[in-house]
Amino acid sequence: MLVSAKEMLDKAKAGHYAVGHFNLNNLEWTRAILETAEEMRSPVILGVSEGAAKYMGGYKTIVGMVNGLLDYLKITVPVALHLDHGSYEGAKACINAGFSSVMFDGSALPIDENIEKTKELVAACHVLGISLEAEVGAIGGEEDGVIGMGECADPEECKRIADLGVDMLAAGIGNIHGKYPANWQGLSFETLDKISAAVGSMPLVLHGGSGIPEDQVRKAIELGVSKVNVNTECQLEFAAEVRKYFEAGKDLEGKGFDPRKIMAPGVKGIKKIVKEKMELFGSVGKA
Ligand code: 13P
Repeated sequence: MLVSAKEMLDKAKAGHYAVGHFNLNNLEWTRAILETAEEMRSPVILGVSEGAAKYMGGYKTIVGMVNGLLDYLKITVPVALHLDHGSYEGAKACINAGFSSVMFDGSALPIDENIEKTKELVAACHVLGISLEAEVGAIGGEEDGVIGMGECADPEECKRIADLGVDMLAAGIGNIHGKYPANWQGLSFETLDKISAAVGSMPLVLHGGSGIPEDQVRKAIELGVSKVNVNTECQLEFAAEVRKYFEAGKDLEGKGFDPRKIMAPGVKGIKKIVKEKMELFGSVGKA
Protein backbone atom coordinates (compact mmCIF):
# COMPACT_ATOMS: atom_id res chain seq x y z
CA MET A 1 0.00 0.00 0.00
CA LEU A 2 1.24 3.46 -0.83
CA VAL A 3 2.15 5.68 2.10
CA SER A 4 2.55 9.43 2.51
CA ALA A 5 6.14 10.68 2.41
CA LYS A 6 5.81 12.44 5.77
CA GLU A 7 6.84 9.70 8.15
CA MET A 8 9.78 8.46 6.06
CA LEU A 9 11.10 12.02 5.68
CA ASP A 10 10.68 12.96 9.34
CA LYS A 11 12.63 9.80 10.22
CA ALA A 12 15.30 10.66 7.64
CA LYS A 13 15.67 14.21 8.97
CA ALA A 14 16.03 12.92 12.55
CA GLY A 15 18.45 10.20 11.43
CA HIS A 16 20.59 12.47 9.20
CA TYR A 17 20.07 10.57 5.97
CA ALA A 18 17.93 11.20 2.87
CA VAL A 19 15.30 9.25 0.96
CA GLY A 20 15.73 9.05 -2.81
CA HIS A 21 13.01 10.36 -5.13
CA PHE A 22 13.38 8.66 -8.50
CA ASN A 23 11.32 9.83 -11.47
CA LEU A 24 9.22 7.32 -13.39
CA ASN A 25 9.24 7.17 -17.17
CA ASN A 26 7.49 3.86 -17.83
CA LEU A 27 6.73 0.40 -16.47
CA GLU A 28 10.36 -0.77 -16.63
CA TRP A 29 11.51 2.25 -14.59
CA THR A 30 8.86 1.66 -11.94
CA ARG A 31 9.69 -2.00 -11.56
CA ALA A 32 13.45 -1.37 -11.46
CA ILE A 33 13.11 1.24 -8.70
CA LEU A 34 10.70 -0.83 -6.61
CA GLU A 35 12.80 -4.00 -6.86
CA THR A 36 15.94 -2.13 -5.86
CA ALA A 37 14.23 -0.45 -2.89
CA GLU A 38 13.03 -3.85 -1.68
CA GLU A 39 16.50 -5.42 -2.11
CA MET A 40 18.12 -2.50 -0.27
CA ARG A 41 15.42 -2.41 2.44
CA SER A 42 15.10 1.30 1.72
CA PRO A 43 12.09 3.62 1.74
CA VAL A 44 11.56 5.22 -1.67
CA ILE A 45 9.61 8.00 -3.38
CA LEU A 46 8.39 7.49 -6.95
CA GLY A 47 8.26 10.89 -8.67
CA VAL A 48 5.97 11.66 -11.62
CA SER A 49 6.17 14.92 -13.55
CA GLU A 50 3.10 16.22 -15.35
CA GLY A 51 4.84 15.55 -18.68
CA ALA A 52 5.69 11.97 -17.71
CA ALA A 53 2.09 11.46 -16.57
CA LYS A 54 0.82 12.52 -19.99
CA TYR A 55 3.32 10.16 -21.61
CA MET A 56 2.25 7.22 -19.43
CA GLY A 57 -1.48 7.72 -19.95
CA GLY A 58 -2.55 9.91 -17.04
CA TYR A 59 -2.47 9.85 -13.25
CA LYS A 60 -5.02 7.06 -12.82
CA THR A 61 -3.04 4.76 -15.12
CA ILE A 62 0.05 5.38 -13.01
CA VAL A 63 -1.76 4.77 -9.72
CA GLY A 64 -3.08 1.49 -11.15
CA MET A 65 0.35 0.43 -12.41
CA VAL A 66 2.15 1.24 -9.15
CA ASN A 67 -0.47 -0.38 -6.92
CA GLY A 68 -0.44 -3.46 -9.14
CA LEU A 69 3.35 -3.73 -8.92
CA LEU A 70 3.41 -3.25 -5.14
CA ASP A 71 1.13 -6.25 -4.89
CA TYR A 72 2.72 -8.39 -7.61
CA LEU A 73 6.29 -7.80 -6.42
CA LYS A 74 5.27 -8.16 -2.74
CA ILE A 75 6.89 -4.87 -1.83
CA THR A 76 7.16 -4.39 1.93
CA VAL A 77 9.28 -1.19 2.16
CA PRO A 78 7.52 2.21 2.45
CA VAL A 79 6.70 3.63 -1.01
CA ALA A 80 5.23 7.07 -1.74
CA LEU A 81 3.82 8.02 -5.16
CA HIS A 82 4.55 11.72 -5.58
CA LEU A 83 3.62 14.36 -8.15
CA ASP A 84 6.79 16.25 -9.15
CA HIS A 85 6.59 20.03 -9.86
CA GLY A 86 2.82 20.02 -9.94
CA SER A 87 0.66 22.91 -11.04
CA TYR A 88 -2.30 23.80 -8.83
CA GLU A 89 -4.63 21.83 -11.16
CA GLY A 90 -2.20 18.92 -11.40
CA ALA A 91 -1.95 18.71 -7.61
CA LYS A 92 -5.72 18.52 -7.30
CA ALA A 93 -5.95 15.88 -10.03
CA CYS A 94 -3.36 13.71 -8.23
CA ILE A 95 -5.11 14.09 -4.88
CA ASN A 96 -8.24 12.71 -6.58
CA ALA A 97 -6.42 10.01 -8.55
CA GLY A 98 -4.87 8.28 -5.50
CA PHE A 99 -1.33 9.68 -5.26
CA SER A 100 0.01 9.53 -1.69
CA SER A 101 2.11 12.69 -1.98
CA VAL A 102 2.11 15.81 -4.15
CA MET A 103 4.36 18.74 -4.89
CA PHE A 104 2.87 22.10 -5.64
CA ASP A 105 5.48 24.19 -7.41
CA GLY A 106 4.39 27.79 -6.96
CA SER A 107 7.96 29.09 -7.21
CA ALA A 108 7.23 31.09 -10.37
CA LEU A 109 4.33 32.90 -8.67
CA PRO A 110 4.62 36.02 -6.54
CA ILE A 111 5.32 34.81 -2.98
CA ASP A 112 1.89 35.85 -1.63
CA GLU A 113 0.10 33.85 -4.31
CA ASN A 114 2.42 30.89 -3.75
CA ILE A 115 1.51 31.07 -0.03
CA GLU A 116 -2.21 31.32 -0.68
CA LYS A 117 -2.34 28.32 -3.04
CA THR A 118 0.05 26.23 -0.91
CA LYS A 119 -2.14 26.89 2.15
CA GLU A 120 -5.23 25.65 0.32
CA LEU A 121 -3.45 22.48 -0.80
CA VAL A 122 -2.05 21.78 2.71
CA ALA A 123 -5.65 21.53 3.92
CA ALA A 124 -6.81 19.44 0.95
CA CYS A 125 -3.90 16.98 1.33
CA HIS A 126 -3.93 16.63 5.07
CA VAL A 127 -7.57 15.56 5.42
CA LEU A 128 -6.64 12.63 3.18
CA GLY A 129 -3.27 11.84 4.79
CA ILE A 130 -1.38 12.94 1.67
CA SER A 131 1.97 14.71 2.09
CA LEU A 132 2.68 18.04 0.38
CA GLU A 133 5.94 19.48 -0.93
CA ALA A 134 6.18 23.21 -1.65
CA GLU A 135 8.88 25.16 -3.48
CA VAL A 136 10.58 28.49 -2.97
CA GLY A 137 13.21 29.80 -5.40
CA ALA A 138 12.98 28.22 -8.83
CA ILE A 139 15.26 25.27 -9.62
CA GLY A 140 16.73 26.10 -13.01
CA GLY A 141 17.81 23.76 -15.73
CA GLU A 142 18.11 23.51 -19.46
CA GLU A 143 15.54 25.50 -21.38
CA ASP A 144 15.87 26.00 -25.13
CA GLY A 145 19.52 25.00 -24.89
CA VAL A 146 20.35 27.65 -22.28
CA ILE A 147 21.38 26.25 -18.91
CA GLY A 148 20.46 28.45 -15.91
CA MET A 149 22.79 28.57 -12.91
CA GLY A 150 20.13 27.85 -10.26
CA GLU A 151 18.49 30.39 -7.98
CA CYS A 152 19.06 30.69 -4.25
CA ALA A 153 15.86 30.87 -2.19
CA ASP A 154 15.23 33.60 0.38
CA PRO A 155 15.31 31.99 3.87
CA GLU A 156 12.56 34.33 5.11
CA GLU A 157 10.24 33.22 2.31
CA CYS A 158 11.14 29.59 3.09
CA LYS A 159 10.06 30.12 6.68
CA ARG A 160 6.75 31.65 5.58
CA ILE A 161 5.98 28.60 3.43
CA ALA A 162 7.26 26.08 6.02
CA ASP A 163 4.98 27.67 8.65
CA LEU A 164 1.94 26.77 6.53
CA GLY A 165 2.42 23.16 7.64
CA VAL A 166 3.80 21.64 4.44
CA ASP A 167 5.58 18.30 4.94
CA MET A 168 8.73 19.06 2.94
CA LEU A 169 10.23 22.10 1.28
CA ALA A 170 12.22 22.39 -1.95
CA ALA A 171 14.44 25.45 -1.82
CA GLY A 172 16.86 26.52 -4.52
CA ILE A 173 20.49 26.45 -3.36
CA GLY A 174 22.19 26.73 -6.74
CA ASN A 175 20.97 23.28 -7.88
CA ILE A 176 19.57 22.73 -11.37
CA HIS A 177 17.82 19.95 -13.26
CA GLY A 178 19.68 17.99 -15.93
CA LYS A 179 23.43 18.03 -16.59
CA TYR A 180 25.48 20.59 -14.65
CA PRO A 181 27.51 22.96 -16.84
CA ALA A 182 31.31 22.83 -16.56
CA ASN A 183 31.42 26.29 -14.96
CA TRP A 184 28.79 25.50 -12.29
CA GLN A 185 29.66 27.09 -8.93
CA GLY A 186 28.44 24.20 -6.76
CA LEU A 187 25.73 24.18 -4.09
CA SER A 188 25.44 27.25 -1.85
CA PHE A 189 25.91 25.82 1.64
CA GLU A 190 25.68 29.32 3.08
CA THR A 191 22.10 29.55 1.74
CA LEU A 192 21.29 26.00 2.89
CA ASP A 193 22.59 26.77 6.38
CA LYS A 194 20.37 29.84 6.66
CA ILE A 195 17.31 28.02 5.29
CA SER A 196 17.86 25.11 7.71
CA ALA A 197 18.10 27.50 10.65
CA ALA A 198 14.92 29.28 9.51
CA VAL A 199 12.75 26.18 8.99
CA GLY A 200 13.86 24.02 11.95
CA SER A 201 12.80 20.39 11.67
CA MET A 202 11.16 20.72 8.22
CA PRO A 203 12.69 18.14 5.81
CA LEU A 204 14.34 19.92 2.86
CA VAL A 205 14.36 18.64 -0.71
CA LEU A 206 17.30 18.77 -3.09
CA HIS A 207 16.16 18.73 -6.72
CA GLY A 208 18.54 18.15 -9.60
CA GLY A 209 20.28 15.32 -7.74
CA SER A 210 22.03 14.00 -10.87
CA GLY A 211 25.68 14.93 -11.28
CA ILE A 212 26.23 16.72 -7.95
CA PRO A 213 29.63 15.62 -6.56
CA GLU A 214 29.17 13.06 -3.75
CA ASP A 215 30.86 15.16 -1.06
CA GLN A 216 28.42 18.00 -1.77
CA VAL A 217 25.44 15.63 -1.54
CA ARG A 218 26.72 14.31 1.82
CA LYS A 219 27.20 17.84 3.14
CA ALA A 220 23.71 18.89 2.00
CA ILE A 221 22.24 15.91 3.88
CA GLU A 222 24.22 16.87 7.00
CA LEU A 223 22.74 20.37 6.74
CA GLY A 224 19.10 19.23 6.60
CA VAL A 225 18.31 17.78 3.16
CA SER A 226 16.11 14.67 3.64
CA LYS A 227 14.91 14.00 0.08
CA VAL A 228 17.07 14.00 -3.06
CA ASN A 229 15.45 13.92 -6.52
CA VAL A 230 17.14 11.94 -9.29
CA ASN A 231 16.06 11.52 -12.89
CA THR A 232 18.74 12.39 -15.46
CA GLU A 233 21.38 9.91 -14.21
CA CYS A 234 18.95 7.00 -14.58
CA GLN A 235 18.05 8.19 -18.08
CA LEU A 236 21.70 8.54 -19.13
CA GLU A 237 22.59 5.07 -17.82
CA PHE A 238 19.51 3.50 -19.46
CA ALA A 239 20.41 5.11 -22.81
CA ALA A 240 24.09 4.09 -22.57
CA GLU A 241 23.23 0.44 -21.84
CA VAL A 242 20.63 0.18 -24.62
CA ARG A 243 23.10 1.84 -27.01
CA LYS A 244 25.66 -0.89 -26.21
CA TYR A 245 23.05 -3.54 -27.01
CA PHE A 246 22.41 -2.08 -30.46
CA GLU A 247 26.07 -1.37 -31.15
CA ALA A 248 26.90 -5.00 -30.42
CA GLY A 249 24.27 -5.96 -33.01
CA LYS A 250 22.31 -7.99 -30.44
CA ASP A 251 18.97 -6.92 -31.87
CA LEU A 252 19.91 -8.79 -35.04
CA GLU A 253 20.73 -12.09 -33.29
CA GLY A 254 17.90 -14.61 -32.86
CA LYS A 255 14.95 -13.04 -30.99
CA GLY A 256 17.08 -10.05 -30.00
CA PHE A 257 14.47 -7.71 -31.45
CA ASP A 258 12.07 -8.53 -28.56
CA PRO A 259 11.52 -5.22 -26.72
CA ARG A 260 11.84 -7.04 -23.41
CA LYS A 261 15.37 -8.11 -24.43
CA ILE A 262 16.24 -4.65 -25.77
CA MET A 263 15.28 -2.93 -22.52
CA ALA A 264 16.79 -5.50 -20.12
CA PRO A 265 20.29 -3.95 -20.06
CA GLY A 266 18.74 -0.50 -19.56
CA VAL A 267 16.77 -1.77 -16.57
CA LYS A 268 20.00 -3.18 -15.09
CA GLY A 269 21.53 0.29 -15.54
CA ILE A 270 18.66 2.00 -13.69
CA LYS A 271 18.99 -0.50 -10.83
CA LYS A 272 22.71 0.19 -10.57
CA ILE A 273 22.16 3.96 -10.29
CA VAL A 274 19.28 3.63 -7.78
CA LYS A 275 21.41 1.31 -5.59
CA GLU A 276 24.39 3.69 -5.68
CA LYS A 277 22.18 6.66 -4.77
CA MET A 278 20.51 4.82 -1.88
CA GLU A 279 23.96 3.96 -0.54
CA LEU A 280 25.11 7.58 -0.92
CA PHE A 281 21.95 9.00 0.70
CA GLY A 282 22.23 6.55 3.64
CA SER A 283 18.71 5.11 3.28
CA VAL A 284 19.80 1.45 2.93
CA GLY A 285 18.33 -0.68 5.73
CA LYS A 286 16.08 2.17 6.93
CA ALA A 287 12.77 0.66 5.77
P1 13P B 1 17.75 15.51 -12.36
O1 13P B 1 17.08 15.12 -13.62
O2 13P B 1 18.76 16.60 -12.57
O3 13P B 1 18.29 14.35 -11.60
O4 13P B 1 16.63 16.19 -11.44
C1 13P B 1 15.51 15.46 -11.05
C2 13P B 1 14.57 16.31 -10.30
O5 13P B 1 14.93 17.20 -9.57
C3 13P B 1 13.13 16.02 -10.44
O6 13P B 1 12.35 16.94 -9.74
